[in-house]
Amino acid sequence: MLKYIRAAALSSLFVLAGCGSDPAPEPLEQIIVREPGTAPAIAAAPADAPASTLIADGKAAFANCSACHSLEQGAPNGVGPNLVGIVGQAAGEVAGFAYSDALKASGIVWTAAELDSFIADPAGKIPGTTMVAGAIAEPSKRQAVIAYIESVTAN
Ligand code: HEC
Repeated sequence: MLKYIRAAALSSLFVLAGCGSDPAPEPLEQIIVREPGTAPAIAAAPADAPASTLIADGKAAFANCSACHSLEQGAPNGVGPNLVGIVGQAAGEVAGFAYSDALKASGIVWTAAELDSFIADPAGKIPGTTMVAGAIAEPSKRQAVIAYIESVTAN
């Protein structure tokens, strides 16, 4: 605490110029903004939202998913498949998961943009999918959850 106060006082001159350069409270992975093909770069953080904040928001928003999906390397599939490495992967490819025919036939490769429209309305995007819950209406929350998923796959 003392150390923090002293550091804050000493570095106050740098606060304006150095916003975002302070060490994060936890050693979160940094977000890597990819440019997957021609997909819009919706994973880019707005200027006022440092990547660590976006990922922390996304981690919280993953509560919408975690009843059915794990984001831990090597963890078993649940009601839905393990999502580690899903960004950039073809739909329906997680080993040992029994997908719907609709999802297997979708031909989707999971870019951030494809994930965004799927999470917004799973059955609207893939009629017949067995993902019957977990949709997120708020675009900013979807962006955060995708950034979080991508941060886990990028290590
Ligand atoms: C009620 C359980 C449930 C919840 C909650 C849920 N999902 Fe799913 N999810 C599934 C099931 C089941 C499938 C397989 C769908 C199919 O085969 O049609 C799936 C499939 C997926 C896929 C396709 C995976 C692949 O290998 O092609 C993605 C991506 C996905 N979910 C992301 C999410 C995200 C992100 C959330 C939270 C915002 C979420 N899901 C919430 C059950 C769920």
